[in-house]
Amino acid sequence: MTLDTTRDNRRRTHFAGHDAIWLFGYGSLIWKADFPYRERRPAYIHGWVRRFWQGSHDHRGTPEAPGRVVTLVHKPGATCHGMAYRIAPEVLEPLDVREKNGYLREVVRLHFDEGDGHSAEGLVYLAGADNAAFLGDAPLDAIAEQIATAHGPSGANRDYLLHLATALKDLGVEDEHVFALAARLHEGER
Ligand code: BEZ
Repeated sequence: MTLDTTRDNRRRTHFAGHDAIWLFGYGSLIWKADFPYRERRPAYIHGWVRRFWQGSHDHRGTPEAPGRVVTLVHKPGATCHGMAYRIAPEVLEPLDVREKNGYLREVVRLHFDEGDGHSAEGLVYLAGADNAAFLGDAPLDAIAEQIATAHGPSGANRDYLLHLATALKDLGVEDEHVFALAARLHEGER
């Protein structure tokens, strides 16, 4: 199941004419910044949590056996920590293609971990509940089982989860959902 959001994203011209844009990464962008950037700073956003609720039919799974990757789910009072990148606007173009399976560019206010409360408007890729690849919530054991077994063109779904868990630990970020899933994967390997 695919929903190609590339064209929608090209029409989302927030920050048109800007020389540089802040992009907030909360998933693979934390540990896989394979694009040019001018600056990289730990940051967080308010009102969102990271959840393995988005299906991956094109990267970490297949249409027959989708994997699960993260999206953001609105939760008042919550904070989601990640990494902010200062990028040139043209860097978004390949990212739109890479993240075309349901993710749309949204504007967020991001707060920098260091810098005395400094914040800025930026973009985040968000896959909402209304996109065709959205899988939503499920028991953690079922999510872990799906991640443990799914593979796609970008590799094993378990590697995506474990890279993310390691990157969050390295940042000193507590993420109950991600760490509980990573623990289940490790338990399954014993
Ligand atoms: C991210 O790491 O911010 C990200 C997650 C899913 C799709 C695109 C970007």
